[in-house]
Amino acid sequence: MLYSLMAKLQLMSKIKQKFKSPIVVFFTVLLGILLISVPPALTQQPVVLNMLMIASEAQTWKESLVKDFQEKNPGIRINVIEGPNATNLLEDLYTSAFILGDSPYDLINMDVIWTPKFAAAGWLADLSNRITKDELAAFSPKDVDGGRYEGKLYRIPMRSDAGMLYYRKDLLQEAGFEPPETFADLVKISKALKEKGKVDWGYVWQGRQYEGLAAMFVEVLEGFGGYWVNPDTLEVGLDQPESLKAIAFLKQTIKDKITPEGVTTYQEEETRRIFQNGEAAFLRNWPYVWALANADDSPIKGKLAIRPMVGTADKGGGACLGGWGLGIAKTSKHPEAAWKAIQYFTSEEAQRKFILQTGFVPSRQSLFKDPQIVAKYPHYPELLQVVNKAVLRPPIAQYAQASDILQRYLSSALTNGMTPEKAMKAAASETRRLLKT
Ligand code: GLC
Repeated sequence: MLYSLMAKLQLMSKIKQKFKSPIVVFFTVLLGILLISVPPALTQQPVVLNMLMIASEAQTWKESLVKDFQEKNPGIRINVIEGPNATNLLEDLYTSAFILGDSPYDLINMDVIWTPKFAAAGWLADLSNRITKDELAAFSPKDVDGGRYEGKLYRIPMRSDAGMLYYRKDLLQEAGFEPPETFADLVKISKALKEKGKVDWGYVWQGRQYEGLAAMFVEVLEGFGGYWVNPDTLEVGLDQPESLKAIAFLKQTIKDKITPEGVTTYQEEETRRIFQNGEAAFLRNWPYVWALANADDSPIKGKLAIRPMVGTADKGGGACLGGWGLGIAKTSKHPEAAWKAIQYFTSEEAQRKFILQTGFVPSRQSLFKDPQIVAKYPHYPELLQVVNKAVLRPPIAQYAQASDILQRYLSSALTNGMTPEKAMKAAASETRRLLKT
């Protein structure tokens, strides 16, 4: 609130009239002036930034990054709202909020696959002029690309991700096996370790009908030389022979009983628990598993290794690029405060702390070689190569629908609701129709 000089003088003369003693008048006037001159920032309510967050991460954000940021910026509060645990469900919540009108969210914590859709719909503020080319060059290029749409930048990468293959190095060594290079090696070793009674299961992967199924499938598809949607030509490859080979491999793992039948209901965490309990020899998952599976209370602490996903003899495996980043809702009334928060959350200092706490993957390239990080996660320098070569899920505005189509038909093929041929024919033609609209 601003007070004019006139108002101050009027108030002082009123005070003088009321109190006759000069000393009382002096101190009362002094107090009055002090009160009147309190800077507006101290009397104002802090700016509140709302951010919806995947449930599994909300607590860590609140206790760590958000707390640190608020201490450094007393005028800004961040209200972290806990959402569901699956990325597609979280995306649905953001989408409905935007469609209903003014979104209540200021900061948008986005999976790498959401940016084209959110940007095309006009829900995000353009961040292109807020960051220089040099500042952007510090991040992994694929993570930055995942935040662009039609030449503009809408998301600053907070953390990266890339699908990997975990294996029990102790069991492989003991049985005289080298780490697998191909799908065939993976099956052979799985069967052998299962027959020897070393594990209940050979290989676990995410088979539930949700976004994680699409991410996992992209890797197997890449390993067989197939593709989902070519982002440049919009050609769809789901009904091609490579795609059927990828499904045949996944189905065979269930048939051979190296993968539990229940895999078609598993998300990341169910598969991690099986592997961490020592029940499986191999696991497809994201790098966060490393820290948990090597924790003091983990039965397989020190017994696991990690490598890029296997492929076929003539085609190396593929890692699916995942990752999360921050954008600003176009309707936010506090874009400057939101940008301040993004700058802090994506800074080297904040990322280092977050990565050491969670075992996630940095988006800043320097952190893959950071001494503190490498001391805890010795495989990170190599992981940078994997991230830089990772396969993007199609960066198209209709991604959510395309993924939904793939998830439905793939799930149906895996659970024997449809033959893989029929399912993929239908998935491909629905996707082609979608991309024409
Ligand atoms: C991880 C990845 C994200 C992916 C999701 C699938 O959170 O970072 O990109 O979509 O898993 O479950």
